[in-house]
Amino acid sequence: MVNVGILGATGMVGQRFIQLLEDHPKFEITALTASQRSAGKNYQDAVTWHMDTPIPEAVEDTVVVDTDPSLVKDVDIVFSALPSENAAVVEPKFAEAGMKVASNASAMRMEPDVPLVIPEVNPEHLDLIETQQKNRGWEGFIVTNPNCSTIALVLTLKPLYDQYNINRVYVSTMQAVSGAGYNGVPSMAILDNLVPFIGEEEEKMEEETRYLLGNFDGDIVEPASFGLSTSCHRVPVVDGHTEAVFMEMDENFELDDVKKSLKDYKALPQKLNLYSAPKNPIIVREEDNRPQPRMDRMMERGMAVTVGRLRIDANIPKSLKYVLLGHNTIRGAAGASILNAELISEIM
Ligand SMILES: NC(=O)c1ccc[n+]([C@@H]2O[C@H](COP(=O)([O-])OP(=O)(O)OC[C@H]3O[C@@H](n4cnc5c(N)ncnc54)[C@H](OP(=O)(O)O)[C@@H]3O)[C@@H](O)[C@H]2O)c1
Repeated sequence: MVNVGILGATGMVGQRFIQLLEDHPKFEITALTASQRSAGKNYQDAVTWHMDTPIPEAVEDTVVVDTDPSLVKDVDIVFSALPSENAAVVEPKFAEAGMKVASNASAMRMEPDVPLVIPEVNPEHLDLIETQQKNRGWEGFIVTNPNCSTIALVLTLKPLYDQYNINRVYVSTMQAVSGAGYNGVPSMAILDNLVPFIGEEEEKMEEETRYLLGNFDGDIVEPASFGLSTSCHRVPVVDGHTEAVFMEMDENFELDDVKKSLKDYKALPQKLNLYSAPKNPIIVREEDNRPQPRMDRMMERGMAVTVGRLRIDANIPKSLKYVLLGHNTIRGAAGASILNAELISEIM
């Protein structure tokens, strides 16, 4: 077993890590960190638990420590679910202390020597680890996963991007409240309502999507150049981000070919049969009323993205429309980091 720690273990994503790692065949949780508010308490006393399964017995009485590498002993991998401003300061210290950091935070994502990876999309970007260790003199390293709405979008764009020339993509999101963390959106602001703004979300989606689909020459990522415009909205759903996608291609296409490319898409994690990899990363539904958050967010243990309402736009030539849904704290956060760590453990 590989000893792992969770940084920010009491938050929405930290709890998801604990839930997903409960029966993991390779990773065993041996350290939990959070802020000074929680440090020194047993995990069950420090956390306000929101998962739909009980707190695993193995961590109930684990003492939460301050997020400081000198307090995290004999750990090989740390999963970071820290707020971005803390991650920027603390994650490098864990890497410097020799640990492998698999991070959800945005702080380090766009650093040119830090891989931003979705294992089904751009595993080759992991080659940047060597450059990072050389540049920074670290024994450990940092690997990041994208923002929650970006992961779901890019998983569906990848098979189409490989097959067609995409000119422009427009995306309108309907994002769950858990995406903002437990204290993120007050109930009075979201019940019976929606909020048509999520700070920095559109910028992250646009930058990270182009970067993930960019050209990597072994040293530098040249971002993809298609037009991408997003509009991000918070809706009163607990878990599961829905996105309406509109895409203009350079060429005519057959809808059945598009469906087949999405349905059949498999990549390295499926080939390696990684524990957290979905058998089918993209599920295509034919019903007019799918995907829906309550029905589709847990497909393949929350690791698959469901696509529905695939149609050719009757008014704009060479244009495709669809709706996708991904679980934001599983495929879009904790599950994404765990899959990155499984891939790294397998290939490095
Ligand atoms: N939620 C999502 O869907 C999602 C998706 C992708 C990425 N992310 C990213 O994942 C990270 C965590 O998000 P979240 O939604 O889980 O946030 P959250 O619910 O607010 O949890 C934050 C965690 O960080 C700890 N923390 C806060 N301030 C700290 C400090 N100064 N030093 C050390 N630890 C500190 C908190 O501990 P205490 O309990 O002690 O305060 C808590 O464990 C963020 O960077 C977020 O952007 C979230």
